[in-house]
Amino acid sequence: MRILAIETSCDETSVALVEASGGLRNPRFRVLKNIVSSQIEAHRPFGGVVPMLAKREHLHNLPKIWKQLSKTELRLDEIAITVGPGLSPALWAGIEFSKTLAKELKKPLIGANHMEGHLYSNWLSPMGKFKNLNIKGKKVRVKFPAVALVVSGGHTILLAMKSLTSWKKLGETLDDAAGEAFDKVARMLDLPYPGGPEIEKLAKKGNSKAVNFPRPMLRDKSYDFSFSGLKTSVLYYIRDHPKAKKTDLAASFQQAVLDVLVGKTTRAAREYGAKSVLLSGGVSANQALQMALREATEKTGAEFFVPNSQFNTDNAAMIAAAAYIQKLRKKSLKLEAQPNLNL
Ligand code: KG4
Ligand code: ZN
Repeated sequence: MRILAIETSCDETSVALVEASGGLRNPRFRVLKNIVSSQIEAHRPFGGVVPMLAKREHLHNLPKIWKQLSKTELRLDEIAITVGPGLSPALWAGIEFSKTLAKELKKPLIGANHMEGHLYSNWLSPMGKFKNLNIKGKKVRVKFPAVALVVSGGHTILLAMKSLTSWKKLGETLDDAAGEAFDKVARMLDLPYPGGPEIEKLAKKGNSKAVNFPRPMLRDKSYDFSFSGLKTSVLYYIRDHPKAKKTDLAASFQQAVLDVLVGKTTRAAREYGAKSVLLSGGVSANQALQMALREATEKTGAEFFVPNSQFNTDNAAMIAAAAYIQKLRKKSLKLEAQPNLNL
């Protein structure tokens, strides 16, 4: 089945065309097209995403991206649209556009959950390919039980998965999401939005042991996270040490976040006997996090999965995957903006 998917929940306008096949035991996704138009430049002067500006940009970008698709690419069976979570005006822009499109093309429209999209981005093969290969070139398939860490700008969630569609939420952030902490600390260091990639760049040149920032809730029995205290510690440290090197601050902050994420995820992997550990969400683009979690996962005997680099941050290909799996489950989501939808 060919799915045209649209994603407008935050500051990326994305349209993808994905060929989906297989059942819930082994769904396969071949990404034929994944166009992402970033609004970063429009929001940068404001230091973060402005919801009404995001809506305006989506309304401007969607018809432009639509025109880039050729007639042959428009042989499709279904249209998928993100209905939440996200910014309400941004979500509505995509929903209204897809409703009109579905009517015009006389195709069914399926609502999809953005967070399920991130989770299932681990099932997307690299662009144009049918199979998922690991870094050694070996064909891989997620085995259950699995533990999944979803880390984005709005969420930090740890799941124990029995199967593709049945999971228990082990924990989530009690305050700031991991990506949000990266963005806020970046602002303290006068780095542009979005802060995650900027911190990562600086951190490569710094000493991660320079400042011993707290590792919030690392020793806590629960699987919940909290990054707000860490963010405040960085703020006070900068105030008290105005000459501290930005590279060292970035590296030390990043290390503190990584230690918590990796520590809790691998503890969960051991406790639940995970055969696979899955990382996803915008923060999963962070190479240091990927390396640390890969190494720690391999020590538990589980296999480590992270989406191909095009699918870490927001994209519509993952929305096609979420919509397809939702369809296989015979479930549906209301076609209206649901800003607080969760996993
Ligand atoms: O999943 P995503 O694209 O959008 C949301 O659903 O929120 O995630 C965006 C978040 C931002 O907070 C951004 O700073 C963070 O992901 N991010 C990173 C990196 N690339 C993006 N954080 C750390 N290191 C990165 N390389
Ligand atoms: Zn996202």
